This record gives sequence, structure tokens and C-alpha cells, in this order.
Amino acid sequence: MERLRLDKIIAASGKYSRREVKLLVRQGRVLVDGMPARSPEDKVDPESAEIAVNGEVLPYRRHTWLMLHKPAGVLSATEDGRGKTVLDLLPPELQRQGLFPVGRLDKDTEGLLLLTNEGRLAHDLLSPRHHVDKVYYVRTAGTLTEEDCRAFAAGMALSDFQCLPAELEILSAGTESEALVTLREGKFHQVKRMLAQRGKPVLYLKRVKMGNLTLDPALARGEYRYLTEEELQVLRNLR
Ligand code: URA
Repeated sequence: MERLRLDKIIAASGKYSRREVKLLVRQGRVLVDGMPARSPEDKVDPESAEIAVNGEVLPYRRHTWLMLHKPAGVLSATEDGRGKTVLDLLPPELQRQGLFPVGRLDKDTEGLLLLTNEGRLAHDLLSPRHHVDKVYYVRTAGTLTEEDCRAFAAGMALSDFQCLPAELEILSAGTESEALVTLREGKFHQVKRMLAQRGKPVLYLKRVKMGNLTLDPALARGEYRYLTEEELQVLRNLR
């Protein structure tokens, strides 16, 4: 593994900014293989060196994985001249890590969005071949019926696209209805288009699950956290 700047490695853990690392190094609170680091610019091989900050050994991760509770009103993009993107919700040290969203949620859709800089795994998770289910909570205008469920299960034909079989689980039905929709693919506006075709337009949409990952209820809209080692392992096993 190539040698990287110490401040960059430590900042990638998300716990300290580069400015904090500078201070910690000056205070002798950053140890590399048991020896105090001399400078934040020291080059270190993060896979072989043991880096300890404030007495705590840093688990080094080559890639960053975040779970974000995407709020409505931000774009699932890395840059966009027209408005705020999900990257704008992150602190500067994370904005510099080349993170991108794993798939897209519409601007008005909320919920679970993963961000990473690990291209290969992200790509695999999005591929329909890998059957990573995405679950959405949805509120529609109009009364959802068993017939709608059967249409989802049969695989709906949209004007330009044949959907894979999907699941519609009705939670409540009335002039407005609530349901959980499970898809194993993610075409542009797919949930909205499927429900519009059934004459039940979407009023509110939120992704609550992706594979085995459920949106962390501790995350308020706009908040994020790092995936745990266990969660990452589950994602890797989905491939
Ligand atoms: N389906 C939609 O229609 N919109 C989303 O944001 C995600 C799935």
C-alpha cells in the first residue's frame, strides 16, 4: 500500500479534522508504531503502521462508508450548479474524500442513502444481478388494493421499461394509503411511476432499507454516521 500523509489518514477516520491532527501531533498525542509522530505530513503506510491518537488505536479503513438520512430538498449528486447536494451535508474533511452516493434518491425523497468512495462495491450493490432489495415507505393518494399488490408481484410494464417482480405491502388503505414497496432494482422515479400507473400517485416517499441495512432511527434528517465493520461485512457478503 502506498504511503499517505498522517493527517490525511487520521482525518479519514472522521473523528478528527486535519487541523486537530496538527495540534495533536504537536502535543505528542499521535503515536506511529509507539513513537510520537514528528509532523502531520509524515508519510505512513496505513495498512502496516499502528497509529494511535489519544491512546486509542485507529482502525484504518481504506474506504469510507457513510449512512445518511437524506432530507427532502437536496440532490443525490456530487456537484450541481442548481442546488444543494448531499455532499453539502458533510464536513469539509469528508467532502474532500471523493465520496459519491450509492444510487440516487429523487430530490423530494427522504431516507437511507449510502455514500462511499469504494466504487467497485457500490457498483455491485446497485446491480440487479446482486438482488439487493430496497425498501421504501410510501404514502399515496387513493386506496391501495390487493389488485395493486398482484400487479407489483407480476412485474409491471412501464412505457419504456419492464419492471422485475416487486412487493407492495399495504399498511393502511383509505383516501390516502400507506405501504412498503420492495424493489430489487432502481430505475429513475421507479416507485412513483409504478404507483402513478396504478392511479395512486405518491405523496411522500422514504427509503427505509437497503439489503440488510435499515435506516438508523438515531439519525435525524440530514445526519450521517459511519457504517460499522459488521455492517460493511454484511454489504460485502451480499455480492
Ligand atoms: N423511486 C422513486 O420514484 N424515487 C426515488 O427517489 C426512489 C425510488
